[in-house]
Parts: sequence; structure tokens; C-alpha cells
Amino acid sequence: MNYNTKVLASNRENINYAAKLLLDGEIVGIPTETVYGLAAIATNPTAIEKIFIAKGRPQDNPLICHISDISMLEQYTINIPNVAYRLAEKFWPGALTLVLPKRDIIPYITSGGLDTVGIRFPSNIIAREIIAACKIPLAAPSANISGSPSPTTSNHVYDDMKGRIPLIIDGDSSAVGLESTVVSFVGEDIHLLRPGAISKEDLSSVGKVIMDRGILERIDNSTKVLSPGMKYKHYSPKANVIILNGSLEKFISYIGERDIEDSYSMIFNSDADNFPYKYLTYGDSSEEQAHNIFNVLREFDKMSAAVVYVRSPQREGVGLAVYNRLLRAAGFEVIEL
Ligand code: TXA
Ligand code: MG
Repeated sequence: MNYNTKVLASNRENINYAAKLLLDGEIVGIPTETVYGLAAIATNPTAIEKIFIAKGRPQDNPLICHISDISMLEQYTINIPNVAYRLAEKFWPGALTLVLPKRDIIPYITSGGLDTVGIRFPSNIIAREIIAACKIPLAAPSANISGSPSPTTSNHVYDDMKGRIPLIIDGDSSAVGLESTVVSFVGEDIHLLRPGAISKEDLSSVGKVIMDRGILERIDNSTKVLSPGMKYKHYSPKANVIILNGSLEKFISYIGERDIEDSYSMIFNSDADNFPYKYLTYGDSSEEQAHNIFNVLREFDKMSAAVVYVRSPQREGVGLAVYNRLLRAAGFEVIEL
């Protein structure tokens, strides 16, 4: 594992080169509309193993497989409930992962030892062209070192994966900015495992939604959970992140009572006028916050922030996903002001 990592533009020649490396069993960083992924051929166990090594990822954390055509769904999964087809019809291509019983062709190393596999049809054109050129689904977790914030630009991927992978395909910054909504099924009910840009409200327009406990609560590391990724701390900047729930006035006075030498605030854009302490903003709307959250958490690391106080976001729509990621970054430390 000591590559001279190249970052190449997403032209036809480089897309074909990425596909050739992938088919040869290599791993490649690719853009998607949610976050950048670290891709390998989903059916090649040796290639998949390289993903776990490059990320330092626990072996029981399953990978999402990305398809470029809806017909690939039935080639890799079985016993698909009607509600899954309705979700696919409404939200694919897009930021939604469907967890379904896997066919044998998906190896257990890809599914983290589970009999199910997560499938996503991304909307990002570059991702789709790379998958289509391979003609096989690409397993791709977020392209960060395990535990660090997910990457939303090729620079973030380079910062984490330099020397560990041969190639990163450059695209724009990820449009959504946080990872896909993950759902599994209980009969025809939708079990929401990880919130994302396809919101709970969106899902409810298609079927009954059951929220997983792990979305808003800490899950013990020894507990068996339905979505293994949810139990790890995740998205963890080096700083001690603390969410403060309450008005801007109370937020400012709370910080004023503390030693603020190496501490920063993560606030809304509309809070910034006359804000008296060091800060970075992460947007006003939930969509802006989703787009910016991981980049801002990475910036705090570069600034060697010791403590980051976060203005608690709205929790409707994609806001629930923003709050879920912040809770993990904060190790569930929330203070009611
Ligand atoms: O938007 C995304 O989903 C990005 C981009 C690259 O597509 N990928 C991503 O992958 O976020 P990753 O590996 O960082 O997160 C995958 C999540 C984990 O929480 C994992 O536990 C869950 O999906 N997951 C995957 N397969 C699963 C399965 N068979 N059963 C339950 N949960 C599953
Ligand atoms: Mg991840």
C-alpha cells in the first residue's frame, strides 16, 4: 500500500482508465451526489478487502453496492417487496439505499457477513458512467479514513487516501453533502436505518416508516444492530464537539462563561453578524447545512480546534440527517440551554 495517488479529471479517457483499474481488482475514489466513494468491484473479494484496509474499516461494517441501471437490482438481490420497487421508482437515481436479501454472487466480505446487501442507484453522472463501463456493481463506502468526516470533494479524498489508493476521479463537490438514506424492509413497512436527503417525510409518501432507535440514540458497541455502521462513533473530528440546543442569545452567553482559548463555534450564516467568538458557519437551510457539514468539520481539524460548540440544527426533512451526523460527531453530547 504505497501508491503514487493520481487525481484525474472525469473525461471519457479517465473514466475508462478508472474502469480498467477496477476490473483489474484495484480501488478508486469516485464522486457521487451524496459523498465521494471508495469503489471496488462488488463481486471481487480481493478488491473489497483492499477497501477495508485502505479505510481501516471494521470487517463487520457492510458496503453499499452501486448500480447504473435499475435492471441490475434483480441480478444481485432477491425477494424484493413491492414497497421497494415503489421507492426505487420514485427516488432512483438518487440518495436512497435499499437493503435487500443478497444473491450468492455478492460475497460475504462485501455484505459484512450479512445475508442482505445495500443497493443504490446514484444520480451522479460520473459515478454512473464508471459503473456502466465496469458492467458490475461497485461497492463503495465513503472514501474517508474510518472515523473521520465523510469526503465531499476530491481534495478531501486525497487528504485521507494519499498513498493508499492509485486513483481518484475528480468531480464537483458532492451536491447533497451527506450520505444516502438507508432503509430495510419489514414486510411492506420501511425501516429507516440512516436518515439522508430522501427524508422520512418523503419515505412516508410511499409506505409506513419505522425509525430505527440508533438514529437519535447511542447504541452500545456490543449490541447487535441492524445497520452496523450506525454503532461506530463516525464523523469524528479531532475536536470535542458539543451540540448546544437553544436560542442564539443563550448560545452566546453559554460560551461567554467558558474558557474559549482553543474553542470555536459552528453557527448558522444568519448568526454571524456581530458574533463575538471564533466561528465557522454551516448554512441556514437544512440543504445548505447538509452540503457544508463535513467540510466545516474538516476545517476545524485543520485549525486544531480543541472544542467546537454547534448551534443545533432544525430536524425536519434532510435536517434530521444533519442532526444525526452531528450527534455522532459529538459522541451524543447535547446540552439543553
Ligand atoms: O451515500 C452513500 O451511501 C455513500 C456513497 C459513496 O454512496 N456511501 C456510504 O457508505 O455512505 P458507508 O459504507 O460509509 O455507509 C454505509 C452504511 C453503513 O451505516 C452500513 O452499516 C449500512 O450503510 N449498510 C450497508 N449495507 C447494509 C446492510 N446489508 N444492512 C444494514 N445496513 C447496511
Ligand atoms: Mg462512511
